[in-house]
Amino acid sequence: MSSRDQFSTKIGFMLAAAGSAVGLGAIWKFPYMAGSNGGSVFILLFILCIFLISLPVLIAEFMIGRRGQADAVTSFKTQAPGKPWYLVGYLGMVISALILSFYSVVGGWILSYLARAAIFAVKPTDGSTYAELFTKVIENPIEVVMAQGAFILLTILIVQAGIKSGIEKASKIIMPLLFIFFLVLVVRSLTLEGAMEGVRFMFVPDWSLFTGETLLLALGQAFFTLSVGISIMITYASYLGKSENIGGTGINVALMNIFISILAGLVIFPAVFALGFEPDQGPGLVFVILPAVFEQVPFGGLFLLIFFILLLFATITSSISLLEMVVSVAVGDNRKKRVRTSWLVGILIFIIGIPSALSFGVLSDRTIFGRSIFDAVDFLTNNIGMPLGALFISLFAGYYYSTKVSKAELNTSPFMYYLWLVLIRIVSPIAIIIIFYTGLK
Ligand code: TRP
Repeated sequence: MSSRDQFSTKIGFMLAAAGSAVGLGAIWKFPYMAGSNGGSVFILLFILCIFLISLPVLIAEFMIGRRGQADAVTSFKTQAPGKPWYLVGYLGMVISALILSFYSVVGGWILSYLARAAIFAVKPTDGSTYAELFTKVIENPIEVVMAQGAFILLTILIVQAGIKSGIEKASKIIMPLLFIFFLVLVVRSLTLEGAMEGVRFMFVPDWSLFTGETLLLALGQAFFTLSVGISIMITYASYLGKSENIGGTGINVALMNIFISILAGLVIFPAVFALGFEPDQGPGLVFVILPAVFEQVPFGGLFLLIFFILLLFATITSSISLLEMVVSVAVGDNRKKRVRTSWLVGILIFIIGIPSALSFGVLSDRTIFGRSIFDAVDFLTNNIGMPLGALFISLFAGYYYSTKVSKAELNTSPFMYYLWLVLIRIVSPIAIIIIFYTGLK
């Protein structure tokens, strides 16, 4: 096993984990989920779910991966020989593939917008609106499928190159840049006339909007945004040396994610209210609002282009983790198969994703349990697959590991350790079961 790559530096792992976590979840999904589910109520529940449930599970995944030093399935197999725990790894693999199948659809939208931004054509034609432009893009069957294919292709090209050269390098430059860009946008958005209404929408809770479904969706978002519940971080942490502080890394990743999500919200919602849009328009929200905000900035067209490039990178650092998870399980320690497997799996996921890509246009009247195909895959993965995976991971780290093992792994103050232990043993499993039950009714 000594032949496995390791992350060369502490900051390398941190950035790769953050790169996997920070992506469309924070920038695209968080604003529209908050916008459609009561704003501040959703945001509060989301933050609560992160600290009480998703972060402890993230740390558990780091633990399992570092101890296993192998892909998710092998990590479970070597640590629990002859027991069915490894099935959790396979569950993660299937859910990863499904997530990537619709993630790449949105990645494709970004490419579509990027291509338009490059010729300064993110403009509605006369008399129409940004919302109509978005609809036009996502309804066009040829464009969405080609764009989705191009996005998967980019992902495959990076993953087949192996962990070090691809993932690590990419995350180092992009994240800080994206961050600075967001800060500038927040300032622009907050200084628009009428912006405060958006801030109120985000931070003053209206508890009458609280429902079991909101809670389930907030939990799903908390898992999704930290890339938790489907053993991805097990795969990443398997490249980790013994000296890293996994608790601290987990906390940093969580804080960074919350921060970027809130920043994204602070760009979107003030502009929504100031410019007279609706907060609950769904997956198109950022694609409609962002160009409208950039319109209010000098050289907006150019900045919009740069922004979409950064967003594309943030999206790709996430999509490579999804593909990496599937490929690493399929390849095991046989590294020769890596390139071929990356292509095979990538192409398969592309095909699985085509119905999702078409579900806003030609397949828009096909529904599964009352949801469009895209929404159904999203719901199945976020709100069923990930909580289920997270439940098993909690049980494994909380009960299967002896406290001696987990204490040594976490290597932190007794207070922090017992806090984590209570969360992983009691709070997380019980909360997941209850939320699951009430949210699905
Ligand atoms: N967290 C990423 C985002 O917010 C998406 C993602 C990457 C993901 N890997 C994951 C989600 C694993 C769930 C599980 O964009």
